[in-house]
Amino acid sequence: ASTIDTFTKASKGVSLKAGLQASLLAMFDAAMFKAWPLAKSAGITSSSVRKCADYKNGDFQCNAAMALFKALKGGDGAPSSPQAAASAIVASLPVNPLVDTTSVSPQGYINIRLRPAFINQSIAKVIKNGPAPPEVKKMRVVVDFSSPNIAKEMHVGHLRSTIIGEAICRVLEFCGHTVFRHNHVGDWGTQFGMLINYMKEAYPNFLTDPPNITDLTTFYKAAKLRFDESEEFKEASRNTVVDLQSGDPACKEVWTLLCDISRKEFQKVYDRLDVTLEEHGESFYNDMIPSTIDMLAEAGLVSRDDGADIVRLEHFTYPLIVRKRDGGFGYDSTDMTAIRYRLKTLKCDWIIGITDAGQASHFHMCFDAARAAGWVDEGTKLEHLGFGVVLGPDGKKFKTRSGDTVRLVDLLDEAVRRMAASIQERMDEGKMTTTKEAAAAAAAEIGYGAVKYYDLRQHPSTSYVFSYDRMLDTRGNTAVYLQFAHARLASILLKAQDELHVDVTALKASPEKVSVEHESERALAFELLMFSDVIEACLADLGPNRLCEYLYTLATKFTDFVTNCRVLGSDEQTSRLLLCEATGVTMRKCFSLLGMKALDRI
Ligand code: ARG
Repeated sequence: ASTIDTFTKASKGVSLKAGLQASLLAMFDAAMFKAWPLAKSAGITSSSVRKCADYKNGDFQCNAAMALFKALKGGDGAPSSPQAAASAIVASLPVNPLVDTTSVSPQGYINIRLRPAFINQSIAKVIKNGPAPPEVKKMRVVVDFSSPNIAKEMHVGHLRSTIIGEAICRVLEFCGHTVFRHNHVGDWGTQFGMLINYMKEAYPNFLTDPPNITDLTTFYKAAKLRFDESEEFKEASRNTVVDLQSGDPACKEVWTLLCDISRKEFQKVYDRLDVTLEEHGESFYNDMIPSTIDMLAEAGLVSRDDGADIVRLEHFTYPLIVRKRDGGFGYDSTDMTAIRYRLKTLKCDWIIGITDAGQASHFHMCFDAARAAGWVDEGTKLEHLGFGVVLGPDGKKFKTRSGDTVRLVDLLDEAVRRMAASIQERMDEGKMTTTKEAAAAAAAEIGYGAVKYYDLRQHPSTSYVFSYDRMLDTRGNTAVYLQFAHARLASILLKAQDELHVDVTALKASPEKVSVEHESERALAFELLMFSDVIEACLADLGPNRLCEYLYTLATKFTDFVTNCRVLGSDEQTSRLLLCEATGVTMRKCFSLLGMKALDRI
């Protein structure tokens, strides 16, 4: 049996798949509570194992002793000093393959050195099987993201939802969860009364001779103009919504036409961004709304207010409106029904809604109402991920010069155009040679990747200033820098194969030949072993920024490694090439989870 198997037995089920930090933490937690059984009741919850800030002290550090000493002070059998508290923890550690040596500082810090054999075996595993996801309970998850509105242009807010949602879905799927990627498009709102009515007015023969509308924005604007100028038109529009929602065939026909046009436009953006969604728009829930309201009423949650049916909730000043005064249903009715469908019909135990932060209270009200109605089992997670605003250079909401919302397709085109220009510049300077086609493909890949990465690396809740210059910078924490780092890595392996005649395939088949020695190699190796810790954190806070931070750190550790350690032509060539390979597979996994493709050459 390998040392890893021994470890798994010794630590009673603590799996290394839990990630390096999580494994160490679990082991030190166990040792701490064994050495100091009263720690838990004294309020100590964790042994606080972290990576050492200064590598010279150790690889990892356990910082629990000081807090432990303070918490137990004065009690029976309390430690005489932080150092004594720490020493007892060390004495309680089980035999295990991770820890090589420990040393306790006078202040009670436990510095931990990992066993070289453990590090090497773990890196070999990464090369053999790829970076492993954390071991987690498998759940059924609805991710409600993108969700633009029919007949309206998708704006940068929808871009954020689309990019963040796609990354979260990919991470969830990688961890083995069952994921429903729902596009909750706004296809049933009051805007349709106006649009259908305008269609009837402007194109009376629309049924036999449908107009060729490719630009819905113009159509929308014209309809809105009519709506704003005429009371009569307004009244007619309101009636039309009621007609549509009660199934009038002519209305349905126009509605279908409008939805189809929009859908095609949305799909263009999804194709470019390599995003997959399943449409479950507002209209999908329409027939199920009355029974939802009945269920809420049976649970005693519905009351009458000025002719409307509402649900009042403890922590909110205004209620959910489940049936409007005119008998119609709105955003709240639809979302309550969507929650019920997701929990009861799809049997999901995790719902994640991704919209701008402005909708946070709407989502939390719906979640609270679902809980109050008794629809939510224990262990089910209902989460809203509210993101910040994308700002223009003036610090105000991102708009075009003329004040219109920025069209998503234009924005993506511009990123690609600028990237193409910068590649051309490098070619002109003789810094790179490639074919025209390859240059164009790289520009598109990096351009889209740069837009995505610039968004994902921010904490979701922060607002950020949109800047092509910053997102396309070759230095700093950008997609472009990461692509360069990856290409550098790939070129080392390529050179080994082409110029030094290393059989790279055979090399990868013997990953056990890796031997991590140099300080920079160790620093890189630890980073590699933190991968599943990061994936876990990424889902715990619904923050793809965690993964971006990790990828960036990995790239910088890799750069340090190749700067400080010669790879090609050195005595350690085999091992170092293997370390490059382990870094490569891990980087590529991060890229793909973030919705980007790693390039081998730039
Ligand atoms: N269509 C909405 C908007 O553009 C977002 C919908 C989000 N999902 C939901 N279930 N409410 O703001």
